[in-house]
Formats: sequence, structure tokens, C-alpha cells
Amino acid sequence: MTVPQVRLLKTAIPGPASNALHARKSAAVAGGVGTTLPVYVQRAGGGILVDVDGNQLIDFGSGIAVTSVGNSAPRVVEAVQRQVADFTHTCFTVTPYEPYVAVAEKLNALTPGSHEKRSALFNSGAEAVENAVKIARAATGRPAVVVFDHAYHGRTNLTMALTAKVMPYKQGFGPFANEIYRVPMAYPFRWPTGPENCAAEAFAQFVEQVHAQVGESNVAAVIVEPIQGEGGFIVPAPGFLARVAEWCAAHGILFVADEIQSGFCRTGDWFASSFEGVVPDLVTTAKGIAGGLPLAAVTGRADLMDAVHAGGLGGTYGGNPVACAAALAVIETMEAEDLAGAARRIEAVMKPRLEQLAEKYAAIGDVRGRGAMLAIELVEPGTLTPDAGLTNALTAACHREGLVTLTAGTYGNVLRFLPPLVIGEDLLSEGLDILEGAFTAHA
Ligand SMILES: Cc1ncc(COP(=O)(O)O)c(C=O)c1O
Repeated sequence: MTVPQVRLLKTAIPGPASNALHARKSAAVAGGVGTTLPVYVQRAGGGILVDVDGNQLIDFGSGIAVTSVGNSAPRVVEAVQRQVADFTHTCFTVTPYEPYVAVAEKLNALTPGSHEKRSALFNSGAEAVENAVKIARAATGRPAVVVFDHAYHGRTNLTMALTAKVMPYKQGFGPFANEIYRVPMAYPFRWPTGPENCAAEAFAQFVEQVHAQVGESNVAAVIVEPIQGEGGFIVPAPGFLARVAEWCAAHGILFVADEIQSGFCRTGDWFASSFEGVVPDLVTTAKGIAGGLPLAAVTGRADLMDAVHAGGLGGTYGGNPVACAAALAVIETMEAEDLAGAARRIEAVMKPRLEQLAEKYAAIGDVRGRGAMLAIELVEPGTLTPDAGLTNALTAACHREGLVTLTAGTYGNVLRFLPPLVIGEDLLSEGLDILEGAFTAHA
């Protein structure tokens, strides 16, 4: 690893060189493309981002759960360089190549269930989700898709319709695709009658709403994030997903797990569905799959995936050879370095610290998540009233100290932590110290 694994602040955050670049960005880049922290990155590796002012920031974001193997991970760099030198593109649907096939084989083996599977590769998470809907409709001959409160599935027209939160994702961008129906999520912290009733009552509401408002025989698929990402790292009440999956199977409805954020070792196993004992009919993946190169996939039961006519799936760049080479290197790294185990070790360090903070600060209403996908939900003490103001103040304080953290949640009141799985324990502890310092100053 060529980037020294230490935090270093040489200037204010952001520093003058970043500020100058940000002025250029504002003049050149569309205003709709926002920036969480206008620190311009020059190099990155392991758990550190180096900016153009020479500051070294601790990374608790991984580019939104992407660089799980670390930035510029050695195997990924080597594989990408080799592939770029060999060839960069032919279009798999014109003249194919082996790395695409190898990625599909790996995905078929690694996703939950030992049944026969097929995969198709795409460029982005949203594109994978769109294609999962296409496959589900073609395979079932049905139009409707059921999604959940707090869901995030992307920003294209169909996936905006699947996504729950209006601001910033949907505001002003309608009309949206039709035949999308939304049901409550089994959200333990906010379940009106208490977390102990959440799984059973949410399942009953789900069944009742789909039956009364959609009709089981009209539903192609239920799409769900096994841990909701942008919605605030909501872990569905235990047992809820398994009941939904079982009910889907009984009605010929496909259970689609969107593992784009929760997949690829992030939660302490290859896929978060495994913790619930759920075997999805289709799984969407992206983000952590290729170490930062754009790649996404739909993997699922062979009979469903093969229901689509030849030419019905694809695109110019889907499964680009360089991205495939990166994905194979990522998978090799995750296997060789046991990064699922690393995610569990991160949880073992972080969760107790977050729980200690929650004992001290009543503003922390909930500590949740799995592996290296952890969050705290901030509320006005003793209530469920979201405290987005405190969330933003804490985030700004962390950023000033050189710790990159992200927010999430329908109400903007969740601080989420997504460190690279290769982060050292010293950086992890230092990041948590900075977070604690932010609480001391602001809560
Ligand atoms: C669960 C989930 N689905 C889909 C997407 C969309 O992925 P992309 O931004 O690659 O289109 C995301 C991105 O955050 C996600 O977290």
C-alpha cells in the first residue's frame, strides 16, 4: 500500500487548493451534481484519502460502499493494467470475451442458493435494478412491482419510481413509471406498537395491501434491500424477509434482493440475504463488486434469466472487460484476505463504541447495521422526532477533523459508516475518537 495509513491535516478542510478546484467545479459542472465534502482527492489507498492540499483523511465512506477492497487495491491495479493493455472494448454482445463469462460464473457460485443460475452484467446499480424488473416481467408475464417505504433503487426513470424519498431524488422529475406499489417496511425503531411486534405486523400489512390494492396474480416481483441503504441502514425486523420470500414463492411472485449496497462482504458475509436465510429468485449487485470500476449485475434462477429473448438484455458497455478484470481481482482479494471476516471484525470494534456513545448521548435513538455497514439514528432525546440539524452538525465536525462520514435516512437524521474492509484498526479507533469528539462539542 503506497498511501501512508495515517491521518494528517496540513490545512483547514477543505484547503485552498480544494477551494480553488471547487470554484472551477461550480462554474463548469451542473449544479444538480452535488458534493458531500468538497475535498478534491489526488490519491487514495486502504483507509486514507489524500487531497490536493496534502491532507490525509480517514475514509468512513468508501465512495458509498464501493471501495471495500480499498482504493487502488494491488490486485485490482494489476488486473486492470493488464486488461487495458490487452484490449479495452469489443462489446460483449458483438464479439465476446472470457472475463465476462468468468464474472458470471463467480456470481452464480457466490450468490445465495445452490440452484442453477445465470447472470447478466450492466454498468450501474440502477441499470441492474431496471433489468431485474424487465426479467421479472418477461418471466412472469405480470406487470406490477412491489417496493417498500424508505427504499432506494436508483435515479433512472423506473428506479426513481421504485425509490421512496422525494427530495433530492425525485423532486421535479415526474411523471414516473407506473405499476409500482409501495408497502410499509418492517422498521423496528419506528414501529408504532414496538419492535417486538414489527415483523408480524409489517408482514400482515404487506399481505393485506398487496392483496387488496394490487392483486397477487398481477405482481411480477417484490424488490427489497436486505439492509436498506440510503433509507438509513434499516435492518428489517428478524424473520420479516423470510416470511415475505415464502409468501412470494406461494404466489408465483419473484423475490428480488437488491444487494447493491449490502453485498460483496460488506455486512460480514458475501450477501446480507444470508443472515435471514433467504434465497432470492434474483439478486442485483454493483458498488463493491469491482473496486470502483463501473460494473453491476443481475444474477438469478436459470429458468427466469433465460426467459428473456436473445437481444433483450445488454448494452454497449455492460460487462466492459476492464471492469470485469477488476471484479475478478476484487473477488480474489475478498477470498484471499477473508474480507467478510474483516467486516465482522469492524463490527466488533465499532458497534460497542457506538453503543457506548448511545448510552451517553440520548440523541442517539438507535444503533444498527451489520458488519461494516453501521449507523446511528439521531432524534430529539426521548422522542422519535428526527434531528437532521444535529446530524449535519456532527457530520461537519467530523469532516473538519479529517474524517469522511456520510448521512442517510428518509429524514436526513442518520449517520452511516462504511469504512473500506481493509482499514486498519488504529484508523478505525481514531475515526471513532473523532466522532466522539464531535458529540462532546455538539450534542
Ligand atoms: C440499494 C441500492 N440500489 C441501487 C442503487 C443505485 O446504484 P447506482 O448509483 O450504481 O445506479 C444504490 C446506490 O446507492 C443502492 O444503494
